[in-house]
Amino acid sequence: MRPDPKKLAIYFHWPFCLSKCPYCDFNAHAFENVDHDRHRAAYQKALTFYAEKLKGREVVSVFFGGGTPSLMKPEMVGALLSDIKKHWSVSSDIEITLEANPTSVEIEKFKAFRDAGVNRISLGIQSFIDKDLKFLGRAHDVAGAKKAIEIADQCFERYSFDLIYGRPDQSLSDWEVELKEALAFAKGHMSLYQLTIERSTPFYMRHSRGEFKVPDDVEGADFYHLTQDIMEEGGLPAYEVSNHSSQGQESCHNLVYWHYEDYIGIGAGAHGRFTLEGQKLAARDHSAPDIWLERAEEKGHGAHEWEVISPEDQFTESLMMGLRLKEGLSIPKLESKTSHSFKDQINPDHLQNTIKEGWVNYNGQNISLTREGLLRLNQIIPYLLG
Ligand SMILES: C[S@@+](CC[C@H](N)C(=O)[O-])C[C@H]1O[C@@H](n2cnc3c(N)ncnc32)[C@H](O)[C@@H]1O
Ligand code: SF4
Repeated sequence: MRPDPKKLAIYFHWPFCLSKCPYCDFNAHAFENVDHDRHRAAYQKALTFYAEKLKGREVVSVFFGGGTPSLMKPEMVGALLSDIKKHWSVSSDIEITLEANPTSVEIEKFKAFRDAGVNRISLGIQSFIDKDLKFLGRAHDVAGAKKAIEIADQCFERYSFDLIYGRPDQSLSDWEVELKEALAFAKGHMSLYQLTIERSTPFYMRHSRGEFKVPDDVEGADFYHLTQDIMEEGGLPAYEVSNHSSQGQESCHNLVYWHYEDYIGIGAGAHGRFTLEGQKLAARDHSAPDIWLERAEEKGHGAHEWEVISPEDQFTESLMMGLRLKEGLSIPKLESKTSHSFKDQINPDHLQNTIKEGWVNYNGQNISLTREGLLRLNQIIPYLLG
């Protein structure tokens, strides 16, 4: 069965933040004097560009990510959503998510974002411990985080929040207490990320100088298992490596990525994957915000030249995305989507080895990773293909 080419998800990247967190290597820049009117016009232009190319689609999800998209003006969010409705049909249960930081300035805008059409908010809470929020360089405290959750609950039908664990000096029992407290604030969805020390961040330098330690692989695995146990008991099991939800509360937008369905990305550094005239294309916008803005104004979009993804690369990308999901992938679907046979692409000895190790579940029709396998996701995929 071919994927339904009519469905489309739209990602907007807002690359600006009030300040840059020392652990973050996302395309996010501390910048105060953003010209909102210029940006609004450029995003609208880029949207029109895609609308002309991808006619007749049904938009199932819109995601405003960043950076800190809660710094956008609600009027701009409203204008983009209204343009989307003019360009395409939208599904009756469309998910429209906006990432927000829990500072007071942003909380005050939640109602306006809801009135603009946002129906789901994703809050960057990160921790329920003040000293750890300070260490992470966050601009909010625990009281602010709780207030943000309360207002999100009043304004939106659905909200999610992110936490970062495996922080320096955090013991397993500290995390257990904090995560159980966090669960009491959840409404169907949470994203839980283990702290990673990324090159080119201030944390990388500080970590290399020995200023702090983070869990090694063995300790990290203990954190991961504890997290899974608590979330399963709490009714929000993982549906993806770092994403947890009750049934039916999965993020529709993220599922589009993991099911390797079509999405476009607009804004500095945003990526897209979509089908056009029978080919799957990869798009990537210029990552420097000023260049992106100039290009979008001049050419009507800020993308580098699109690349055609070969069926073999589609197979690899589909596998990489789909194995992130607890449910894994349907092999007949993977084969029909990519016109490549599973048996030809996967090394049979390596597949058997991963099954024996207890990392992979495989029944000929479906392949998925076990909990132990998900811990080794990045090693297992090249091994299976090798
Ligand atoms: C791109 S950020 C945007 C969200 C929003 N700007 C914020 O910070 O709250 C998405 C999430 O990635 C996670 N994240 C970013 N850098 C990370 C790192 N080095 N290690 C673990 N999680 C990270 C954080 O939980 C963050 O909320
Ligand atoms: S973690 Fe969020 S707020 Fe902090 S710099 Fe990255 S995108 Fe900006």
